[in-house]
Amino acid sequence: MEQLTGRNFNISIFISGRGSNLLSLIRYSKIKNSKIKINLIISNNKFSKGLEFAKKNKIKYCVIDYSKKKQAEDKILEYLRKNKINLICLAGFMKILSSDFIKNFKYPILNIHPSLLPKYKGLNTHRRAIKNKDKFSGATVHLVTPKLDSGKIIVQKKVRILKSDTEKTLAKKILKIEHKLYPVAIEKILKKI
Ligand code: GRF
Repeated sequence: MEQLTGRNFNISIFISGRGSNLLSLIRYSKIKNSKIKINLIISNNKFSKGLEFAKKNKIKYCVIDYSKKKQAEDKILEYLRKNKINLICLAGFMKILSSDFIKNFKYPILNIHPSLLPKYKGLNTHRRAIKNKDKFSGATVHLVTPKLDSGKIIVQKKVRILKSDTEKTLAKKILKIEHKLYPVAIEKILKKI
């Protein structure tokens, strides 16, 4: 992994859908003295609601045709280089990055996941936590490695699962903490590298 230098971090956020984490990061990037700049938004889905936030905030965005994965990833790498991106944040990006992509992008890649990893990798995390009668769930930001949802954990925050919680209410509670957690993780990673 290459060292980051200087004080400005050029971030690319990858999305596929709603984009509420993207919106919280855009807000965070606008805070006075913020060290981050969101330079590029990548989506594999032209109908992502999150693209509206890119347009409204005049952030460059790019919809990538993912019908051929290798070509899609090569194109993304080219855009990342052109825009001098030195941190990728996956925020609800529903494609798995290949190990070649991860190797070729020399900087950190973060992902946010709605569970207390290593518990419940993959999808339907809230359903599984409720079904197993877990007392807590939460959100995790971790480094991306070729193995799904398995890289080093950067930050994690717990929420209590109430008896009355449904998949929907738990998802809502966790999403709220995700919006606070992603900026914390970015601060932490920028300090470290
Ligand atoms: C979030 O719950 C995130 O943890 C998961 O996908 C969801 C994306 O939501 N990886 P949004 O698009 O940021 O609203």
